[in-house]
Amino acid sequence: MYDHKISATDKLTLYRDLAAALEALVAGEPDGVANMANAAALIWDTLPDLNWAGFYRNIDSELVLGPFQGRAACIRIPFGKGVCGTAALTRTVQRVYDVHAFPGHIACDAASNSELVVPIVRDGLLIAVLDLDSPSTGRFDAEDEAGCVALSGILARAI
Ligand code: SME
Repeated sequence: MYDHKISATDKLTLYRDLAAALEALVAGEPDGVANMANAAALIWDTLPDLNWAGFYRNIDSELVLGPFQGRAACIRIPFGKGVCGTAALTRTVQRVYDVHAFPGHIACDAASNSELVVPIVRDGLLIAVLDLDSPSTGRFDAEDEAGCVALSGILARAI
């Protein structure tokens, strides 16, 4: 049984504990799908106020849905479209305070109001993006961004 109950109250500790739990969870496992699935579950369990947490993979320069937690979502997203496609095309983190103000935002779940998308890059190649959605406007701050960038570094070697 994996029991990674993380109960830190400050974000710095929360993300440090989450990163340590993720490292432990993927250690020695070469299967990327298994590692993405467990990562999505761990993030979903640990971070409050999310309605979606998961991955879109770069398959021949198109984003294709990967393992996630939350409601069924759009399967394919072209590079450059929506928040995920913008993160993939520009390889920059997209931290969106209000998704309804983001041009071209793809509303997979009407409950989403803010979003954080982090590119996962290995050896100069975009492998996937990590996508977190929240029902709360402005849910993600700079600490969430830094914490998720750290997670993407671990994932870059594990997926
Ligand atoms: N809202 C995203 C699409 C993916 S879902 O949030 C799961 C976007 O605009 O890229």
